[in-house]
Amino acid sequence: MSASPLPASPFPALDAVLGLLRCPVCRAPSLRRERSVLRCPAGHAFDIARHGYAGLLTGARATSGDDPAMVRARERFLSGGRYGPVRDAVAELAAEGCTGSGLVLDVGCGTGYYLAGALDRLPGARGLGLDSSVRALRTAARAHERAAAAAWDVFRPFPLADRVADVVLDVFAPRNPAEFHRVLRPGGRLVVVRPTGGHLAELRAPVAVDPAKEERLRRAMEPYFTAAVTERVEYVLSVPPADARDLLGMTPTARHLGPAEPVLPRRITVSVLATAYRPR
Ligand SMILES: C[S@@+](CC[C@H](N)C(=O)[O-])C[C@H]1O[C@@H](n2cnc3c(N)ncnc32)[C@H](O)[C@@H]1O
Ligand SMILES: [Zn+2]
Repeated sequence: MSASPLPASPFPALDAVLGLLRCPVCRAPSLRRERSVLRCPAGHAFDIARHGYAGLLTGARATSGDDPAMVRARERFLSGGRYGPVRDAVAELAAEGCTGSGLVLDVGCGTGYYLAGALDRLPGARGLGLDSSVRALRTAARAHERAAAAAWDVFRPFPLADRVADVVLDVFAPRNPAEFHRVLRPGGRLVVVRPTGGHLAELRAPVAVDPAKEERLRRAMEPYFTAAVTERVEYVLSVPPADARDLLGMTPTARHLGPAEPVLPRRITVSVLATAYRPR
């Protein structure tokens, strides 16, 4: 009689990264999965949500994170491919840091759009997206067959062992340079994407531009990383009003606008910088 095959895991992408995780409570190395619960050796337990992401963030909630309306707008907008050039640039920079079955960690991953792009470019790699927004994680958990997702607050020590990531991505998301450095392998890469002063300028009030931002980023990274290469991705989008509305809805700028419907421009500038850093 032949043995019946083991049932396929319902969480293959999560299973693939369990050995790299640390218990968020006691910092013990490695978690194991029992059905839809993750456990550390000391017995701390974390549920895997019905949608497939790991609920590692227990206790106090994160102080920031996108609300469901912002995530839905982001999801609709990104699905139209209008940020494809940004995704390509991120994947290209990520590919230079990763070999074989390495880990791509996307911090503030949102819907997992950029993580999925990097994994497409890296056929052997595993992915993990961290975000504090439950609505974003639902989508991130389905973004790619090799992408796992977990609830986490970027401002707390990451639930990961030292030097396990080949690539860390931070795309338009809050940053924690000390933790980026701790979890990256010495030969790995950090890719940071942020807007320039001209990004979505047609949608923003001029006061929203902070000229000191680049200098602050440089100073924050300096103790941990050397910038290897910076690419500027800049183009003009022709957007129908529905897409402009989504673009507005997915940016924090939208929160600063009054309740009145703004006049939506048809041409909108995309202007971002993507920097690849090497750990010091
Ligand atoms: C502008 S969105 C970018 C999302 C994604 N990287 C992208 O570009 O599509 C910023 C993301 O950071 C997440 N975020 C904000 N504060 C956070 C925190 N303290 N910890 C983890 N994620 C956070 C938000 O929920 C959101 O998904
Ligand atoms: Zn524990």
